[in-house]
Amino acid sequence: MGRQELERAARALVAEGKGILAADETVPTLTKRFDALKIASTEDSRRTYREMFFTTPDVSSFISGVILQDETIRQKNTAGIPLTKVLSEQGIIPGIKVDTGAKVLAGSPEEKITEGLDGLRDRLKEYSAMGARFAKWRAVIRITDTLPSPVCVNVNAHALARYAAMCQEQGIVPIVEPEVLMDGSHTIERCEAVTSSILHAVFHALFEQCVRLEGMLLKPNMVIAGKDCPKKASVEEVATATLRCLRRHVPAAVPGIIFLSGGQSEVLATSHLNAINKLDLPKPWKISFSYGRALQDPAIEAWLGEQQNLKAAQHAFYHRAKCNSAAAIGNYTSVLEGEKSGQKATLHRSDWHDD
Ligand code: 13P
Repeated sequence: MGRQELERAARALVAEGKGILAADETVPTLTKRFDALKIASTEDSRRTYREMFFTTPDVSSFISGVILQDETIRQKNTAGIPLTKVLSEQGIIPGIKVDTGAKVLAGSPEEKITEGLDGLRDRLKEYSAMGARFAKWRAVIRITDTLPSPVCVNVNAHALARYAAMCQEQGIVPIVEPEVLMDGSHTIERCEAVTSSILHAVFHALFEQCVRLEGMLLKPNMVIAGKDCPKKASVEEVATATLRCLRRHVPAAVPGIIFLSGGQSEVLATSHLNAINKLDLPKPWKISFSYGRALQDPAIEAWLGEQQNLKAAQHAFYHRAKCNSAAAIGNYTSVLEGEKSGQKATLHRSDWHDD
């Protein structure tokens, strides 16, 4: 993929009113979610679960790309068609998680460094041949009274930039994800200060390693108070602090910012995205979503591993994708959110093919 194609692919992922489904939970993570709902986790059930999202009728109006993980990118549907092809035939771009997880940071054992650089070039070549056009690497930053340490911020920024440079070398759009966790009792002000310093370090590292900003996407956390903070910030406060932080630290050459949901409820994640897009300030990038839990949770709860619930689960996913699509252009309303219960009635029957 040449430079122009790379940039075109990055822009396509943040096309107007579209965002990304993060469906890249590793086998142990997805198994934990399945266990909590008493769903058996087998290679087959995980494939059925993913296929349920990928084949939701008309969801490509709202979803530009899907992040897969190693097991899924190798899987085929029951007709023997690779899942990557199932996606691309609907105009959805397949992507792949390429980090190998956050491990204890030597020298600062309460923090994590994301691994996976060794052998990355060969893995990117293999994934590219399987149809992946973009990739994801997630760094995790924890806030306490004394953390993050400067070394944690710097080594994670350095690794993100090394990954991004290698992706671009292989013609793959890197999603750069430095996630400041919501865990803890920190205030929104502290989250803003920490998010600022990690974004500053990340863009410095990207510059040093010659990453082309036009051919990448940023996947940050929103600026939000910690889960256990007694003082909750309002939707407006989160939107204002988040946009202020991004405007200070993200160059205009980056085509898109796609948020992670990070443990926010699905409605709150949509409301925050909408409020950010509605703010009356210049925004040089598209601002959209790359949610995992906030797109999947209602669907997995509707599905529960049962074939007869598959259509209901697809309805739940379609609804969340539609609401987030509206939020990506600042058009989300409580009326649209409330359509859920009446959704079957408002969708044409032909939109949902009953076999
Ligand atoms: P959540 O939206 O559930 O935070 O997941 C997004 C993601 O890709 C985390 O790496």
